[in-house]
Amino acid sequence: MGELLRINEKIRPFNKKISIEGDKSLSIRWALLASQATGKSRAYKILKSDDVLSTLNCLKKLGISVKFKNNYCEIVGKGLNGYSYKKNLTLNAGNSGTLSRLILGLLVHSKKKIRLIGDRSLSKRDFSRVIKPLENFGAKFYSSKKNKLPLSIMGSETTKPINYIENKGSAQCKSSVMLAALNTLGTTFIKAKKSRNHSELLFQHLKIPISIKKTKKFDYIKIKGGRKIPSFNYSIPADISSSAFFIVLTTLSDNSKLLIKDVNINPSRTGILKILKKMGIKIILKNKKNYKGEKIADIFVESSKNIKAINCPTNLNSSAIDEFLIIFLVAARAKGISYFRELSELNQKESPRLKWGSKILNMMGIKTELTNHSIRIYGDPNLKLIKKIKIKEYLKDHRIFMMSVIAALTYGGQWQIHDSDSIKTSFPSFLRIIRKLNKNK
Ligand code: S3P
Repeated sequence: MGELLRINEKIRPFNKKISIEGDKSLSIRWALLASQATGKSRAYKILKSDDVLSTLNCLKKLGISVKFKNNYCEIVGKGLNGYSYKKNLTLNAGNSGTLSRLILGLLVHSKKKIRLIGDRSLSKRDFSRVIKPLENFGAKFYSSKKNKLPLSIMGSETTKPINYIENKGSAQCKSSVMLAALNTLGTTFIKAKKSRNHSELLFQHLKIPISIKKTKKFDYIKIKGGRKIPSFNYSIPADISSSAFFIVLTTLSDNSKLLIKDVNINPSRTGILKILKKMGIKIILKNKKNYKGEKIADIFVESSKNIKAINCPTNLNSSAIDEFLIIFLVAARAKGISYFRELSELNQKESPRLKWGSKILNMMGIKTELTNHSIRIYGDPNLKLIKKIKIKEYLKDHRIFMMSVIAALTYGGQWQIHDSDSIKTSFPSFLRIIRKLNKNK
C-alpha cells in the first residue's frame, strides 16, 4: 500500500487563479517525435511526472541525449530509426499505457530484440490491440504472458505499410500505428474511430505527409513514410485531464471561484466541459488562443447549485475518457438518475475504473447500477457525509486517488486514502495546489 492521506474536513471557500502542469499526452508525444527528428528540440513546461520521466529514460536507453536545462528539456534526435543500443535491452514503461503502446510503434524497425516491462498495473493491461497492427508492419512479438507485458519486440528492416481499422476509439492504438508509419516507405491507411488527435496535429505541424478526412464517427488518415522530421521547439499547454479535478472541486464546493490558466482545450479532449455544461454547470472560456494547431484558453468556473442529471451522449465518451471518474462525482450531487453507457474501455485503464468509480460512490452511500459497459447513478443533491471511508486497496491508479480526494473535500466525512504517491504518475503538484486553495489568502 502506498502512502496514506487522511482528510476529515471539506475545503474552505476559495477564489483563486491557478496554473496546472503540462499535458501528459503532448509531453510524451513531443519526446517521442523529438527523438526521431534530426537535431536539437526543446520542450518548455514539459510535465515532470513519472510517465514522462519513464519516456525520457527509455529514450536515453535507446541512445538519445536527453537533458533538463534552465527552463526546458532538450532532446537531440538522431533522425528516423536513429536509435542505437546494446543487445538484450530492457525498457521500463512504468505505469504508462501511452508510452508503452506508442514506443512499440517506433520499435517496428529495431534491429535487435528489445524487452518491454512495466509496473503491476501496466502488466495487467492488454497489448494485443497494438501487437496485431504492428505485426502487420512486419515486427515480431514474443511474450510468455499472452498479449501482456513483459513482452519483446523484434523489428523488421523492411516494414510494409498497412491498412488499419481502429474501432475502439483508442488514441494510443492510432498513434502507435502512426509512429510505425513514419519510417515505413509507402502509404499507411488508417480508419480510426474518433479519439484525441494530438499526434495528427503534431504531424501536420512538422509537415510530415499526412492527410485526414473526417466523417461523423471516423477519421480517415493517410501517412506517407520516409520523410525526415525537422527538430522543433514546443511549449506544452496545461493538461485538461488534470484541470478537470479542480473544475469539479470548484463546482462541488461552497461559494468558490477558480480561474485555470492556459489549458489545452483541443475539442477531442473537452468532453468534460460539454458534459458539465449539459448538467447545468457554468464554465467560461477566456483568452482563447491557437498554438501550433492546438487550442488553448483560460477556464473560469464557480460553485454550482441545481446540478441536473444527464443521459450522457456516447459521442462524448472518447473526448472525456480520462474524466469519467470525476464526472461520476458530479452525477452523485445531481437531481435525478444519470446514465453513462458504452464505456467498457474504462475498465481497460490503469485500474478497472468503471467498476471502481461505482464502488467509491457506493461507499459514499450513492446507489448505482453497474454493468460491464454502463453505469446508472442515483444522484442525491443533499448528500453530506459524516461516516468513515477507507480506500486501502493498492490500485496504482492516480485518477482513483485524485477522485477520492476531491470527494472527501466536497462531500465531507472522514477519509483514509492510500496511494498518495500515485499522483506522481500524471500530476505531481495536485496536493500542493489543494493546500494553496485551502489557505485563506
Ligand atoms: C491517451 C489515450 C487514452 C487515454 C490515456 C492517454 C493518449 O487511452 O486514456 O490516458 O495519450 O493517447 P486510449 O487510447 O487507450 O483510449
